[in-house]
Amino acid sequence: MGRMEGKVAFLTGAGAGIAKATAKAFAREGAKVALFELDRDTGAAAEREIRDSGGDAIFVHTDVTDDESVKRAVEKTIERFGKLNVIMNCAGGSLLEDKPVHEMDLAIWHKTIALNLLHPFLCCRYAIPHMITDGGGSIINFASHMGLKGSQRPAYSASKGGIQSFTMTLAAQYADYGIRANAIAPGTVRTERNKSRYETKEFLPENSATPAARARAALLKLYPFSVGEPEDIAAIAVFLGSDESRMLTGTTIAADGGRSTYIKVLAE
Ligand SMILES: NC(=O)c1ccc[n+]([C@@H]2O[C@H](COP(=O)([O-])OP(=O)(O)OC[C@H]3O[C@@H](n4cnc5c(N)ncnc54)[C@H](O)[C@@H]3O)[C@@H](O)[C@H]2O)c1
Repeated sequence: MGRMEGKVAFLTGAGAGIAKATAKAFAREGAKVALFELDRDTGAAAEREIRDSGGDAIFVHTDVTDDESVKRAVEKTIERFGKLNVIMNCAGGSLLEDKPVHEMDLAIWHKTIALNLLHPFLCCRYAIPHMITDGGGSIINFASHMGLKGSQRPAYSASKGGIQSFTMTLAAQYADYGIRANAIAPGTVRTERNKSRYETKEFLPENSATPAARARAALLKLYPFSVGEPEDIAAIAVFLGSDESRMLTGTTIAADGGRSTYIKVLAE
């Protein structure tokens, strides 16, 4: 019997990266999954992949920053599967235009906050009533190592810092209904998008052309476990989505190979 047998989950951003890997893991563990994704091609392809492996999945075209779109997506999930036990608010990311505060375009601030902070709020707003009806559930939000501390991306860090307090608030407000809420704060994850962004030749230490690239390569060397695969994060999400984690609520799990929790001394 799978660790999520009988559960219904939706995952946002499930056409790619961490959410896609997690949707596959949830389905392998017996959950029925609704894939909320903006990109029609990748969303439909993820649905096919899960079905071809024997899982039960539907792709629901969704813009998670749009109130009506999220409302409809939750309704479609209920129409199809009848209930909702686990939600994973995973779509997110930072923009290259997320510049120092005094230089940032206001539209970039709003766009980043909408994707990373408004979206989990909208999903919770429409999913929680169904979880209450069903006697409980598990909410999994996505923070980031760049929200555990400050970074050079102010809007992204602020949105991901906000997710941690939003998660604690959900945990406090809905404990009486049997609803748990936790967040995962990944370090660098080797998603397809990141591979194309970072694993170009210039990011290898020996080829690093710029000081910033050299610094990044050196940092990753200092924290050898800080770069993970989407499946590493999916494993944590399965734990949070299953009843195995029933003692956990309100936490943010730093899944970054220790990068946010210790200082490595350069010369000992
Ligand atoms: N990958 C990393 O290194 C890393 C590190 C720290 C935190 N995170 C966080 O983990 C989460 C997943 O990141 P990832 O790297 O797997 O993402 P990704 O970029 O690989 O995939 C994101 C998916 O979300 C979809 N999406 C974007 N906007 C959407 C919208 N408005 N509505 C619906 N879908 C939308 C995209 O089409 C894409 O399929 C994000 O919240 C991210 O901030 C990732």
